[in-house]
Amino acid sequence: MNKRLIFLGPPGAGKGTQSSILSQRNDLLHLSTGDLLRAEVSAGTDLGKKAGLIMDKGELVSDSIVLSIVQKKLSGKSQGWLLDGFPRNLTQAQSLEPLLEEINQPIQAVVLIETNDDVLIQRLLERGRTDDNEEVIRNRLQIYRAQTAPLINYYDSKGLLKSVKGNDEINIVANLIQEALN
Ligand code: AP5
Repeated sequence: MNKRLIFLGPPGAGKGTQSSILSQRNDLLHLSTGDLLRAEVSAGTDLGKKAGLIMDKGELVSDSIVLSIVQKKLSGKSQGWLLDGFPRNLTQAQSLEPLLEEINQPIQAVVLIETNDDVLIQRLLERGRTDDNEEVIRNRLQIYRAQTAPLINYYDSKGLLKSVKGNDEINIVANLIQEALN
C-alpha cells in the first residue's frame, strides 16, 4: 500500500475521520494541521492566539506558520505518514516538495474525498466545532474552492490523484479508500 499520503477535500468531507482510520490500520503518522493548530489555541500559546482568530473566521493561517509546524513533525520520520488538511494552497504544495526531497520521502498518492455540499454542511452543523456555524462554513467552502481545489489538477497532472466518493457511511468510505490505495 502507498504509505506517504495527502488527503484533500472540502470541510466536512471526512478527511480527519478517514485519516484516523487509515493511519491506525496501517501504522502511519497522522498529521492534521487543523488539530495541531487547535492544540496551540487550547494551550494559549502566542501562535495559538494569532491562529485562533483566523480559524474562527474560516480563513487560512499563514503559510509560514503552517509550514514550520509540518517541517518539525515530518523531519526524522521514517514510517509512513498521512497529511490531513495540508497542503491547502499552491504555495504550501510547492514548499512541501523540497522538504520531502530533503528527507527522500516523496508523496505516493493524494486521496480526494468528494462529498456533496448539502451533506457536508449538515455534518458540520451537527458536529458544532467553534468554526462550524453556517456563515463560517460557507466561507471555508469558498476558500476551499478558490485556494485548495486547484491542487486537484496539480496532483492529477503528477499522476498522484485517487478520487473517492465520500457521501456514504464512514466504513464504506474507509473501504473505498483502502481499495484505491492497494
Ligand atoms: P481543519 O481542521 O483542517 O478543518 P477542515 O478542512 O475545514 O476540515 P473539517 O475538520 O471540518 O472536515 P474533515 O474533512 O476533516 O471532516 P471530519 O472527518 O472532521 O482546519 C480548520 C482551520 O484550521 C482552517 O479553516 C484554517 O483556519 C486552519 N488550517 C488548517 N490547516 C491549515 C493549513 N494547511 N493552512 C492554513 N490554515 C490551516 O468530519 C466532519 C464531521 O462529519 C464529523 O463530525 C464526522 O464525524 C462526520 N463524518 C465524517 N465522515 C462521515 C460520513 N461518511 N458519514 C457521516 N458523518 C461523517
